[in-house]
Parts: sequence; C-alpha cells; structure tokens
Amino acid sequence: MSIQDILRTMDYGTAPEDASIVTAWLEKHQNGLGHFIDGAFTDPGETFEVANPATGEVIAHVTQGSEADVDAAVAAARRAQPKWAALSGHERARYLYAIARHVQQHTRFLAVLETIDNGKPIRESRDIDVPLVARHFYHHAGWAELAEDEFAGTEPYGVCGQVIPWNFPLLMLAWKIAPALAAGNTVVLKPAEYTPLTALAFAEICVEVGLPAGVVNIVTGDGATGAAIVAHKGVDKVAFTGSTEVGRRIREQTAGTGKGLTLELGGKSPFVVMQDADLDAAVEGVVDAIWFNQGQVCCAGARVLVAEAVEDRLVAKLTARMKTLRVGDPLDKNTDMGAIVHPVQLARIRRLMEEGAAEGVTITQGEAPEGCFYPPTLVTDVAPASVLSTEEIFGPVVTVTPFRTPDDAVELANNTAYGLAASIWSENVNTCLDLAGQIKAGVVWINCTNVFDAGAGFGGYRESGFGREGGREGMMAYRRHHARRGEVVEPAEPHAIPGENAGAGIDRTAKLYIGGRQARPDSGYVYQVPGGLAGLGNRKDIRNAVEAAAKAGSWGAQTGHNRAQVLYYLGENLSARAAEFTERLAAFGASKADAKAEVDCAIRRCFWHAAQADKFDGAVHATKSAHVTLAMHEPLGIIGIVCPDVAPLAGLISLVLPAIAMGNRVVVVPSQSKPLAATDFYQVLETSDMPGGVVNIVTGPRDALAKTLAEHDGVDGMWYVGGAGAMVEKASAGNLKQTWVEPDRARDWIGADGQGRGFLHRATQVKNIWVPYGA
Ligand code: NAI
Repeated sequence: MSIQDILRTMDYGTAPEDASIVTAWLEKHQNGLGHFIDGAFTDPGETFEVANPATGEVIAHVTQGSEADVDAAVAAARRAQPKWAALSGHERARYLYAIARHVQQHTRFLAVLETIDNGKPIRESRDIDVPLVARHFYHHAGWAELAEDEFAGTEPYGVCGQVIPWNFPLLMLAWKIAPALAAGNTVVLKPAEYTPLTALAFAEICVEVGLPAGVVNIVTGDGATGAAIVAHKGVDKVAFTGSTEVGRRIREQTAGTGKGLTLELGGKSPFVVMQDADLDAAVEGVVDAIWFNQGQVCCAGARVLVAEAVEDRLVAKLTARMKTLRVGDPLDKNTDMGAIVHPVQLARIRRLMEEGAAEGVTITQGEAPEGCFYPPTLVTDVAPASVLSTEEIFGPVVTVTPFRTPDDAVELANNTAYGLAASIWSENVNTCLDLAGQIKAGVVWINCTNVFDAGAGFGGYRESGFGREGGREGMMAYRRHHARRGEVVEPAEPHAIPGENAGAGIDRTAKLYIGGRQARPDSGYVYQVPGGLAGLGNRKDIRNAVEAAAKAGSWGAQTGHNRAQVLYYLGENLSARAAEFTERLAAFGASKADAKAEVDCAIRRCFWHAAQADKFDGAVHATKSAHVTLAMHEPLGIIGIVCPDVAPLAGLISLVLPAIAMGNRVVVVPSQSKPLAATDFYQVLETSDMPGGVVNIVTGPRDALAKTLAEHDGVDGMWYVGGAGAMVEKASAGNLKQTWVEPDRARDWIGADGQGRGFLHRATQVKNIWVPYGA
C-alpha cells in the first residue's frame, strides 16, 4: 500500500484511552448513587439504570428524585442562600477559582466519565467540554469578585432551580451553576436522566473545595423530578436547557408565580455558504457544525444554504470528507463521531429520516458500526418545507439547499420558528456582516462555527428561548433589580355604548390610532371615560395594529441618530402642548401640581430616550484570541404594551419610549380608565415625523386586549402592568414571547424608577457576532 493509499483510506489503528480510573469510580458506586443535598450524598433510593450508549452496558444505578428529595434540596439551598449572598464577592470568587482548579486537576477523569456516560468522542470531552467547564468557573470567579461594583442596584434571585439536558452534561452544568453562584444564588440542579454521572462527580469536587453545605444541590431523576423543581414554591428562578416543547410547558407552569425564567431551547440553525466562500474551510466548518457531538447540539448548523453556483462543488467536497469520518468507539482517540446518547434518540433520528425519505429526498451517508450509532448523513434535493429542513433532528444529519441571491439566503435562513445560531461563510467581510445583521439569531459565527466562550453571551431569539448564558448578559440573568411589591388596581370593565356619537353633551370621542392614522373601532362601540368617549377596541383592532406594526419594520433598521431626531421632535411638540396635557390630567382628578409634574416627566422622558437612542450600545467581548465578538443590541421586534392605570400619561411614555428608542414597534393599550391622555398623545405623534405603524394605540378592555396580544404570533414581546400577569405569561407561551409583567403600583412611574437602563435591556436582545480577528 502506498502512502497515498494510506492517506486516502485513513486506515490507521486505534488509540484507546485508559478508562481504569473511571471503572474504579463506577465500581466504588456499584450499589447505587444518591443525590447531593446539603453538602452530603444521600443513600440511594429508588434507582434507574444508566448505560454506556456505545456498549449498552449498564454502568450505574442512580436515584430517581422524589418530591420529598426536591423539598429537602430546596430547603438546604434556602438555608444556605443568605449566608452565601452575604459573603463578599471576593470570598465567593475564592470558591469558584477553587472549583475551576479542581476541574482542571480532574480533567482526564471527568472527560472519560463524560464519554462513557454520553457516548461523545474522548477527543471532544477532553479538548472541548472539560476545558470550557474550567474556563467557565474561572471567568465567573471574576464576576463574583466584581459583582458588587458591576451589578450595583441588583440582588441575587435566591434559590435557582436548574434543569439541564444530556448533550453537554458537565458543560451545561457549568453554564448554569457558575453564574448562579457568582451572582450570590444557591442552586438545585437536575442533570438529564441519560447522563447524570458527571454532575455527581462535580458534587464530589464541591466537597473537595469545601463549598458551604447547601450552596450546590444535585438531585437526579427524570422529567417528573425536573417538573417538581420547576413547580417548587421555594424556587425563585428557573433556568432550563432542553427541548422547545418542555420549555413551553415550563413557561406555562411558571406563569404568574413571579419566578425568574430563562430558557435555552432548540434550533435549526442555518449554515450559509456564499459563492466566494473558501469551500475547503466551509467543508471543515460543516464537520464542526453538524458532525460534532453526533449532531446533538442545540446550535448545530443543520441547514447548509449554499449559493447555487458552488452547490455541486460543495456537495462533492462534503461527500468526500464525510466518508473519511470515523464513527465508533468514543474512547478511541482517533474517533470522530461516537455513539448517539440513547436508543430512544436513535429511534427518533431514524423516524425523522424515514419521514424525510418518503418525500423523495436524496440521502448520502458515511459508515457507522452496529449499535447505538448513526452515520454522518447528507440530504440533498430537499425542499425548505421538508420535515428534514424544519424539525430539529438532533442527530448527524445536514440538509443542503441552494439559493440564488443573498436576499434568498436571508429569507431561507429566517424561514424557521427558531433563532439560536447561524454561521456565515464568505471571503468578503462586508457580505458576512451584512447578512449577520439580517439573520434572526442570538449567535452568529463568521467563517467559523460552534465556537463557545464564557465571555460571550449564548442564547436564542424567537422559539429558541430567552435569556443569555455567559458574559455580562449571562450574569444579569441571575440578578434582579430590587423588588418592590405593589398593589393591584383593577379598573371596572368598560361599559360599551353603541355608536360613536352616543352620549350627547360629552365633549369628544377619541379614535384608535393604527398605522399612523386615526381609526374607528371595529366594534363600532365606545365607552365612557373621564373627559369623553374612547373607542372600544377588540381582537380585530389588535390584529390590524400588529399588521400595521409589521409593515413598519424599517424603524428598527434606522440609525440611533435618526430615531433620536424623531424622539427629540416628539419631546418638543409635547412641550409646546404642555398646558393642554396638564389640563387634561387635572380633569381626571389630579391636582394641578401633580398634573404638571406628570407632564414635565413625560417631556423629560422623551429627551432622555432620544439621548439613549444612539448611546445604549453593545460591547466587544474579549473572547478567544482569534476572534472579536460583537455583542449587538437589537430590538425584539413588535412589543405589546399594556399600560398602568395610574399615571396615564407618564406610565405610557415610560414604557413606549424605551421600546421605540431601541427600534421596536409597539401596539399600546393605554390606561383603561383614563385613556384620553394617550389619544391626545397620538396627535403629538402625528406632528413629529413618527413613521406610521411604529406606535399603534388601541383603547378598550385592558385584559381582553392583552390576551389577544399575548397570543398573537406576530408579537415578539409583552410588557404588561396590571393584575392579570399570570394570564399574559401563560398566553405568551405559544411563540415564547419575552414577557415583563408587574402589578399596577409596582413602581412610581413619575419618579426615578420609571426610567433607566433596565427598561432598555428589556427592549433589546443581544446578538453575539463572532468575527475572526488578528489570526
Ligand atoms: P427534554 O427537553 O425532555 O429534556 C431535557 C431535560 O429536561 C432533562 O433533564 C429532562 O429530564 C428534563 N425534563 C423533561 N420534562 C420536564 C418537565 N416537564 N419539567 C422539567 N424538566 C423536564 O429533551 P429530551 O426528551 O431528552 O430530547 C428530546 C429532543 O429535545 C431532542 O431530540 C432534541 O431535539 C431536543 N433537545 C434539545 C436540547 C437543547 O440543548 N436545545 C437538549 C436536549 C434535547
């Protein structure tokens, strides 16, 4: 055999990793493993089997967590939390540093255990998972040290309930536990039932470093145990990574509980190859995008979108490269792809592939041994609507779809309900950055893929969930602004009066404001309010308003400077009519002085937000040495805003202004009992060069309109002030809108807490764009 033959076939021997330290550990625990609660391991209870997916061999028996176990863990976390939060940031940092060091010392053990439990190649667990775990604890030791300076005005949530999946068992644990602890919380974490072992090994590290009892609690079990953690009254914040289906259920389950919530869910991420891309580099990119971790990666580049002109060349190169991938023993250091985590997942991949095959797609595959393995797979001749292009397969299967123009590429990329990640390949940086701005995803990799670092935020747009893990934005997911408890003011249901001119002698009838025009309510009904009559809006009006907002998308693409001009103009025009607005508020029963203070506040809010429009900018994260990572603040899109009944003008301005300053469009339901300040406000909008559709106002029954907004798939976020926050959160689960709900008197709208960076954070989501730099 010639050297060329050897290189072509890559037929070289095996290089098995020595697993003896893990075998010894498993033997030590052969009678079963309990939970880790209050600093100690419990005796094993009712157990379930954990198997090595590569061999099918049962390697451990792990305890199925009961409600009583969850109770005990939450109680321990609750007891420990005040003491943990009372430590100085420096003291907390010392523990996190110690954890990082111990993880490094145990790297080989943890990597082998992870590989045996999960089936991923040792090359990945050793070189990617475990080093990133250590990096995460180091980085967050830093945040612990700085927490008091960097997050002034915020406090830890308290006890965090964390549920993680099986694809990166130890890494997901680190992503959850490190920021929670750095921020002063204590945790109850449940690893996935397929892969609980490294979490228990991590608990041993907590003992080794002398972490105070109760700060970290690990409860093992299945979805029922996870559900018990999520539902537990003693949990203040829930953080979940897993399927969108379960994430949606958790959104519904936590609605109205006041618990903080972050969700990191599924994806179907595009991998865009432009005509001028370096195709060989892009092929290696696809290997890392979809054949890394057997494709069981939430941000896997599962949809290759390729410029038509280079499709054939790319497919030929990909096919050749795919056939060189070695699938097999995960403990072999030469293995490229290991085992699928569990036969249930293998069956799921096969089922989806059968469904796809029935559609007539072309399937090309590499090789895989018998057992819980699946070969690397390339699917061509596949329609964008195919089950293989739309469903998250969570296996080593990539589809290839051609496009003609960059606009087509963007359209195809965004043709999904998800928005976790995207990868863009072109030798032209202008093209890359242009597409990066248009693709709806929380993470964008330019000429690279699946790059992670503790210093950058990770998380999705749309149905991929909300909240970020990593970096400053990830820390903010574990701190909240000091809570204020407000009372709820419930206005009486508006009494419908037919016809717009009913109630002779009442001074005026205000219309709705949709798409930059005054509009009659669809119902034809009005209702009586102080100072006149207001339109009784209904579902149809909300739908029209959302449609109008959807057409005003260019607002978000304008520069901050341009938006600022409009907001300054708005402030000036409001100022010119200050006396009229003061009179209106006084007519609602406010004292002259209070009315004037509210109008003055509204004017100042316009100027403050105009100032912020081009200043609330993002960051450049210091991530890996060969990249800069741009953390861009992007608008959510369309936000439904349901205003407080108190402070009818200042409440509305305080909510609408941050939303539009950051480039969102809004559908606003003003104070139900005193809406005429808002309808006066649209006359100011009309004279201020505000493009039609950016602000839409629908008056009427607050909670009924809120429900329609929350259920509407075209609405990306919901801000609701009032008594029906639970309903709003639950109804928002459909497309996993970001929500912000508060009782009516939760804040003093006219005072300082009616404005601030917190509002701007809520109006934006961070897109992290990884750009090669200095390499
Ligand atoms: P899953 O979402 O059911 O499991 C993830 C975690 O949630 C596990 O710890 C599980 O025990 C827990 N869990 C399940 N039901 C729960 C509930 N009602 N309340 C609280 N916790 C609950 O995901 P599964 O069934 O393992 O995988 C199914 C599909 O989900 C995969 O094929 C893949 O498409 C997707 N998935 C996505 C992940 C991601 O990182 N985005 C990770 C794992 C799965």
